[in-house]
Amino acid sequence: MKKKLIEIEWPNGNCTLAEPGIDWLLIAEKAGVEIPTGCLSGSCGACEIEVNGKIVRACITKIPFEKSGKIKVDFSSDPYW
Ligand code: FES
Repeated sequence: MKKKLIEIEWPNGNCTLAEPGIDWLLIAEKAGVEIPTGCLSGSCGACEIEVNGKIVRACITKIPFEKSGKIKVDFSSDPYW
């Protein structure tokens, strides 16, 4: 069965397609978007992004299945602090 691809709109305005279940950090890197990281284990919060308005920690979260087929990603804080 073919998996449905999700369209992801990045903070820089680029859009890419990705399969649900893939790591956020991996797909962001492929899209040329740098998500800041720290601990890579879900405790520091450096990698927080907004996924359709909901804050998640990118290092421990995977791309969700989204009925609409679209996800908008924003940085939840200034990525260059
Ligand atoms: S890198 Fe620390 S919570 Fe994700």
